[in-house]
Amino acid sequence: MGKQSCWFSAVVVVVGCVFWVMVAGVGGYPEENLVERLPGQPEVEFSQYAGYVDVDLNAGRSLFYYFVEADSHPHNKSLTLWLNGGPGCSSVGGGAFTELGPFYPTGDGRGLRRNLMSWNRASNLLFVESPAGVGWSYSNTTSDYKTGDAAAANDMREFLLKWFEKFPSYKSRDLFLTGESYAGHYIPQLAIALLDYNEHSAGFKFNLKGVAIGNPLLRLDRDIPATYEYFWSHGMISDEIGLTIMNECDFDDYSIASPHNVTEKCNNAISEANQIVGEYIDNYDVILDVCYPSIVEQELRLRKLATKISVGVDVCMSYERRFYFNLPEVQQALHANRTKLPYPWHMCSGATDGNINILPLLKRIVQNHIPVWVFSGDQDSVVPLLGSRTLIRELAHDLNFKITVPYGTWFHKGQVGGWVTEYGNLLTFATVRGASHMVPYAQPSRALHLFSSFVHGRRLPNNTRRSIDD
Ligand SMILES: *[C@@H]1O[C@H](CO)[C@@H](O)[C@H](O)[C@H]1NC(C)=O
Ligand SMILES: *[C@@H]1O[C@H](CO)[C@@H](O)[C@H](O)[C@H]1NC(C)=O
Ligand SMILES: *[C@@H]1O[C@H](CO)[C@@H](O)[C@H](O)[C@H]1NC(C)=O
Ligand SMILES: *[C@@H]1O[C@H](CO)[C@@H](O)[C@H](O)[C@H]1NC(C)=O
Ligand SMILES: *[C@@H]1O[C@H](CO)[C@@H](O)[C@H](O)[C@H]1NC(C)=O
Repeated sequence: MGKQSCWFSAVVVVVGCVFWVMVAGVGGYPEENLVERLPGQPEVEFSQYAGYVDVDLNAGRSLFYYFVEADSHPHNKSLTLWLNGGPGCSSVGGGAFTELGPFYPTGDGRGLRRNLMSWNRASNLLFVESPAGVGWSYSNTTSDYKTGDAAAANDMREFLLKWFEKFPSYKSRDLFLTGESYAGHYIPQLAIALLDYNEHSAGFKFNLKGVAIGNPLLRLDRDIPATYEYFWSHGMISDEIGLTIMNECDFDDYSIASPHNVTEKCNNAISEANQIVGEYIDNYDVILDVCYPSIVEQELRLRKLATKISVGVDVCMSYERRFYFNLPEVQQALHANRTKLPYPWHMCSGATDGNINILPLLKRIVQNHIPVWVFSGDQDSVVPLLGSRTLIRELAHDLNFKITVPYGTWFHKGQVGGWVTEYGNLLTFATVRGASHMVPYAQPSRALHLFSSFVHGRRLPNNTRRSIDD
């Protein structure tokens, strides 16, 4: 498509086209960021781009992105930004290659297979490693790595402005901001940064059309007790410990850093609970089996398939992905690691903050008439639905919103996809049945249905009649 539009203009004005190619690359997109083909990648019809956007030249700070166009008609589909959480986890490693992107790693960690439920069936997808220090994003100024939420949001706004210069035809596209987990901080903070920009800009304005966050960390005093309530209700800790935590802990001043600023009795009960749940449970999906790192790492070295299927999911996928991303030919194909970083690629690196109440930000977003969806994989114990559901109901109350969809089941392929409720025609809370903290990872098909409804401004179906997304 890009080549063609250039070819047409070449017929009309030859000089103009040559100049155009030199400055902006084919079809206005940066040719040097075009990903021809990733090692071991099945053939596909859509384009992929990857590379760097410098957000601060003085400090030498640069963010790495991976952009994949929609699998059909990218020119009339929206643009969706996805961020993983952490704080400090890679959106390319997480979202793009193990959750909602078009490829998953193969079992030997040396190739890729198609994810047929990729969200690029509904939208163009942009993944950014944020903040600097995460994945292949870096800064030449090491003090930049001790960054918090505010700096991350500023860099992301700067990133988007400069990314639009590379991809001008996406500037006016409907923009959706999505993410999960600690992106419950990053995404609302970025949305506010964009709305602030719009307020002060006489020219360009971000065309923000919606915000969706999955299993988001929103407020510690609700999200933390929800974890222990979840352990308790799922038989993972005893009545004694569950009751001690529920009755003795005051989570109002709980801090992420340990000790957690709670009473000794509470602190002890929390430690005991964490110990009983132990390391043989995947806290991000309490139903799935776990993958054993020592075994999988040996298998990958020996070129064996590391795949371990539990409830239809390859629970060793994150190890296959790490192996793949550390292959030099993969980094080269992605135009990543251009400064030869002195450490291997890993999924998460540290970043600070955490004790921030995000509800006032969500309130401002909704007050700007931008729909907000909070979705929740119901097998997650890390940021379980119990906290999110209560927080969203309280936010709706605070906004004086009426219930516009009463809490009830939504359907996908003739089965319950989860439960959903909506307030004031703008604020939606939906669970995804059988999904982990990483919703699209354990339930790709239900997740795509939910995402597709979100970007098309449709409610989730409350009956079993097949919808066009099924
Ligand atoms: C960072 O340092 C590298 C190596 O010295 C240099 O090539 C690069 O231009 C600097 N700035 C950025 C934004 O990468
Ligand atoms: C998108 O464009 C294609 C052809 O370019 C067209 O068939 C389709 O109807 C368009 N879709 C929308 C939603 O406009
Ligand atoms: C710890 O708790 C005390 C009293 O409950 C409170 O005054 C203080 O601000 C809290 N500290 C932090 C770091 O949250
Ligand atoms: C970057 O490249 C260097 C040199 O090839 C390699 O040792 C390092 O592991 C890579 N780091 C990342 C983050 O990809
Ligand atoms: C299902 O949704 C439709 C359309 O929003 C609505 O008219 C209907 O009342 C809903 N049915 C139930 C049982 O909630």
